[in-house]
Amino acid sequence: MTADAVVVATNSPISNLATMHFKQAPYITFVIGAKVPRGSVPKALYWDTLDPYHYVRLQNIDEQYDVLIVGGEDHKTGQADDADARYARLQTWTRERFPMAQEVLFRWSGQVMNSDNGIAYIGKNPFDEENVYIVTGDTGIGMTHGAIAGILLTDLILGRNNSWAELYEPSRVRIGGVGDFISENLNVAAQYLEWVTPGDVDSVEEVACGTGAVVRRGLTKVAAYRDENGTLHEHSAICTHLNCIVAWNSSEKTWDCPCHGSRFDTQGKVINGPAINGLLM
Ligand SMILES: Cc1cc2nc3c(=O)[nH]c(=O)nc-3n(C[C@H](O)[C@H](O)[C@H](O)COP(=O)(O)OP(=O)(O)OC[C@H]3O[C@@H](n4cnc5c(N)ncnc54)[C@H](O)[C@@H]3O)c2cc1C
Ligand code: FES
Repeated sequence: MTADAVVVATNSPISNLATMHFKQAPYITFVIGAKVPRGSVPKALYWDTLDPYHYVRLQNIDEQYDVLIVGGEDHKTGQADDADARYARLQTWTRERFPMAQEVLFRWSGQVMNSDNGIAYIGKNPFDEENVYIVTGDTGIGMTHGAIAGILLTDLILGRNNSWAELYEPSRVRIGGVGDFISENLNVAAQYLEWVTPGDVDSVEEVACGTGAVVRRGLTKVAAYRDENGTLHEHSAICTHLNCIVAWNSSEKTWDCPCHGSRFDTQGKVINGPAINGLLM
């Protein structure tokens, strides 16, 4: 297959190992959907400025009810495993501010890529071939950034001027963002200490059905998952991107990398880049 230009829209870029991955940070975000009487909450996009922050959207479900979608309570990917507590805090936050909220119909979580200033990276992929373009660092507003990327990347590929290009330029350096950049990358560097720590449990015998744990085996670590039938599935716990140690996510039953957000299923298969290869057996 040949093409004049390539757009890498894999959320976290997969066309090179280490460029944008140092300029954005992966976060797991949590969402609940609570039933509210239709029209009881004015239709708008709401968010607060707490850390971690909260956001609110509305979705109509029938003539009588809307679903109040409340999200937030984010944590860095692979650096916490307490989803129930986060969902509970979301419920409390919701009930305090939206007393009309009734039962919670849905709850789910997923990963977002946060850029240095909340604005996505859309344009040429730095240190890549001239004709490789990316869209990443959506920072939880991928619906908006996706639409912008469609317009902006079309213009860039066709050589047309677009006044947004500078704002979204992936290679930009933000004055004032250096502190955040350093602290996020120090956090990543600290994750490599996992190479010398003990495992989550001493032996695979302690891994209960339907759960996973990282187990030390000599100089390395093993990601051990025991399925509902009691069969043990072992993979190397070393992320195939840049060798951080993955962590068990008990809520989504995935192996999540705390460094740049690669995620793997219980069989070691990649479900989220930047890794492109599964966990080794
Ligand atoms: C819980 C949650 C709530 C959110 N709420 C909002 C919201 O209210 N408003 C909003 O605007 N945004 C929201 N977002 C963010 C938004 O969903 C994302 O920013 C957006 O989906 C990113 O779009 P994308 O197309 O870049 O990436 P994705 O939607 O992740 O698509 C990437 C695609 O690339 C494919 N892919 C990945 N790796 C490979 C590979 N190696 N080979 C081939 N294909 C590959 C994947 O299968 C996938 O289809 C939310 C995200 C989450 C997780
Ligand atoms: S995602 Fe980069 S080391 Fe795992």
